[in-house]
Amino acid sequence: MTTTTAFEVLPAVSSFLDKPRHKLLIGGQWAEAASGRTFETVDPSDGRVLGKVAEGDAEDVDRAVAAARRAFQGPWSRLSPSERAKLIYKLADLLEKRSEEFAQLETLDNGKSIRESTRGDLPLAVDLLRYFSGWATKIHGETLPVSVPYYPGAKFLHYTVREPVGVVGAIIPWNFPLLMAVERLAPALACGNTVVLKPAEQTPLTALRLGELVLEAGIPEGVVNVVPGYGPTAGAALARHMDVDKLTFTGSTEVGREVVKASAGNLKRVSLELGGKSPNIVFADADLDAAAKGMFMGIFYNQGQCCSAGARIFVEKSKFEPLVAALAEKAKTVRQGPGLDPKTQMGPLISKEQLERVLGYVEAGKREGARLLCGGERAPEPGLKNGYFIKPAVFSEVSPDMKIAQEEIFGPVATVIPFESEEDLIAKANGTIYGLVAGVWTKDIKRAFRMAQALKAGTVWINCYHFVDAAAPWGGVKQSGYGREKGPYALEQYTQLKSVWVDLN
Ligand code: NAI
Ligand code: MG
Repeated sequence: MTTTTAFEVLPAVSSFLDKPRHKLLIGGQWAEAASGRTFETVDPSDGRVLGKVAEGDAEDVDRAVAAARRAFQGPWSRLSPSERAKLIYKLADLLEKRSEEFAQLETLDNGKSIRESTRGDLPLAVDLLRYFSGWATKIHGETLPVSVPYYPGAKFLHYTVREPVGVVGAIIPWNFPLLMAVERLAPALACGNTVVLKPAEQTPLTALRLGELVLEAGIPEGVVNVVPGYGPTAGAALARHMDVDKLTFTGSTEVGREVVKASAGNLKRVSLELGGKSPNIVFADADLDAAAKGMFMGIFYNQGQCCSAGARIFVEKSKFEPLVAALAEKAKTVRQGPGLDPKTQMGPLISKEQLERVLGYVEAGKREGARLLCGGERAPEPGLKNGYFIKPAVFSEVSPDMKIAQEEIFGPVATVIPFESEEDLIAKANGTIYGLVAGVWTKDIKRAFRMAQALKAGTVWINCYHFVDAAAPWGGVKQSGYGREKGPYALEQYTQLKSVWVDLN
């Protein structure tokens, strides 16, 4: 596949892209799809085909799950925690060494600016691997004092063991492709599981390249399998597979519900990281410069394609007009272009479908009577017309019950809503089906803690936004999903507890 871009890419990136076809990673081997079919992945900045990818389906998922099972029962379970830790750490080192290459590949496949790939996605991915490699040697059970009231005087030793769950199926989305892959692999492997990873069909490349590093690191064959393919075929096959012990899913709430149903066959454990429509709340007493930056970055980071996007911006009435105006002014000056251009501040949306979806929401907002202050149309610049660019939009005079204030848009569309008082605000802020994150901007320390308590969200950011770390738990409440990734809590997702009784009488 020949790829030309106006921007120079590393030789390693061009040689990866030059492969005639990207194959599936199954049991340590690069394999064609059983069907022989392939699909194309494109650069969303200009619609150019970046590569052909083997299209995994149910049969390939079967093969991958069988390989993962063999690896789980065989080589992977024979390694000591310390040996596992070393291999995961080695993978982190390899990824760090190739950060620039991965950042370029991610930017090409996903569209995000190279600045975001380089400064955000890559360092976090490396850090996640290091953080969880450290946990591999620290996963342990406990001894518990048991009394057994119906057997007075009896003595037992009781202890618990944390065991791996087994074969983990991971279905991930396209907004942070490498990061999501690593966020699932790192804890799953640290806990001793093996994995079948299904990347999003829009962005399979960095997961496949990561598969090469997994082998280079010396992680045994079959421990990590990568099967790109479409959701209703490959994804659904993984979700319903009778020999997958645990499924971790990140994506839309709608598909989240589907995978829960599909999981019922063998009652596999499921964790879900779904959508959001998160409030980012600015009180009049906040540091307004910091809040303005936080409002902007909260909604427009990654083109607004973040599960945690601060999409519903609430501003206290007395400061509403100036803050909304400042947000719109800033949005108008955003420099859009291909992600590889170092001057680009905002790249394209992921796909034509997503572009149409987002444009549809802009129309809905106008129809419902919200005031569009800027953006919301395809980028008119001649150089951008083949890409999926949309001008960042700011809607003012939005009321909380409008469609654009209730549904996840997943694009650069800010909806700004005024509020009068804390009480009035809390009901509005919590008034969606979602509960992933919330941001609060205030200098009043009591109010900050009151809000942290009142907001129904998995994460609350006080005077900051979009901070994540390997150590901090991540996940939602309500229909944003269940289970926590990252931090020590991720270990609970990827282990199961065994209770052992020893009769000492
Ligand atoms: P999606 O939920 O369809 O895709 C996410 C992943 O699930 C992909 O790997 C896809 O192949 C897979 N999938 C799709 N259907 C499946 C099925 N029936 N069984 C198993 N796996 C399946 O999301 P999509 O269509 O890419 O985006 C639509 C909307 O979803 C976005 O506009 C956004 O609102 C939301 N979304 C939320 C994300 C998040 O980070 N929470 C990420 C991606 C999308
Ligand atoms: Mg792509």
